[in-house]
Amino acid sequence: MHDKIETISSIDKIHLLTKKLRQEKKSIGFVPTMGYLHEGHLSLVSESKKNNDVTIVSIFVNPTQFAPSEDLTTYPRDLERDKKLLAELGTDYLFFPNVEDFYPDDFQSHVSVNEITKILEGEFRPTHFKGVTTVVAMLFNCVMPDNTYFGQKDAQQAAVIKQMVKDMKFDIKINVCPIIREEDGLAMSSRNVFLDEKERQDALVLSKSLKLAEELINEGERETKKILTEMEKLINSVDTSQLDYVSIVEVESFKITDRIEKNKNYYILIACKIGKTRLIDNKLLKM
Ligand code: PAJ
Repeated sequence: MHDKIETISSIDKIHLLTKKLRQEKKSIGFVPTMGYLHEGHLSLVSESKKNNDVTIVSIFVNPTQFAPSEDLTTYPRDLERDKKLLAELGTDYLFFPNVEDFYPDDFQSHVSVNEITKILEGEFRPTHFKGVTTVVAMLFNCVMPDNTYFGQKDAQQAAVIKQMVKDMKFDIKINVCPIIREEDGLAMSSRNVFLDEKERQDALVLSKSLKLAEELINEGERETKKILTEMEKLINSVDTSQLDYVSIVEVESFKITDRIEKNKNYYILIACKIGKTRLIDNKLLKM
């Protein structure tokens, strides 16, 4: 059991470290996060540890992926607790860059992915994915990992990053890992701490509506519209909910679908505010 984790903030130092690791022919697994870690994040770290010689986790609350109206300043942080959790898992290194080093005053580049970022999260958070792809490209260039681990929790984010890696010819494998949930079904999220007691209960409409959709599909329903209408009814049955979208998309292309077909895989996706807290959830459907 480890009680400390080596933390690196300097970009020069992370470059030196990962260069040395590559010279030693060590495989590098990388888990990018914004911290305030929970079991969902830690499951990615465990997966990386299983499959790589060295695991590096980054914590960086990336300002450019938050719109001015969003929760950048209140985003939960607890570095000491995060370090302890990572050390307990035997994580090899924490990369914790400074905002000033990542975005110096003369910073002027970005990476953006066009089509897949226009719908769903991209429609409701139009500047979000450009911030994500830019920072993830920077993180990838700092760490140059062999494998990276992302959560299905942010399914569209994972698809956007896969597209970026393919288009930009990054020699990096993206692994998408299952959603970790609380016992009652709520998908774990750093933002769940914002929910009060009633909202925490109401938030169950997200996972419940995904279950309902799955049941309807198992009973033979194939029309997306009918499935989504039933989900909406359930979500709207609590007075704290304010739905952004429910949608069903094909897993690889993220194309919105009208009809569920045999031999295809889909994500059923939700984004919904509960009180002031915006939550997302989804379910993978293998037909
Ligand atoms: P963050 O929200 O901290 O999430 C880091 C990673 O943990 C993401 O890949 C996310 O999908 C995964 N994750 C979150 N909750 C999960 C859960 N309940 N089960 C499984 N995995 C879960 O996503 C980001 O940070 C940022 O956008 C980032 C990629 C770090 C770029 O800034």
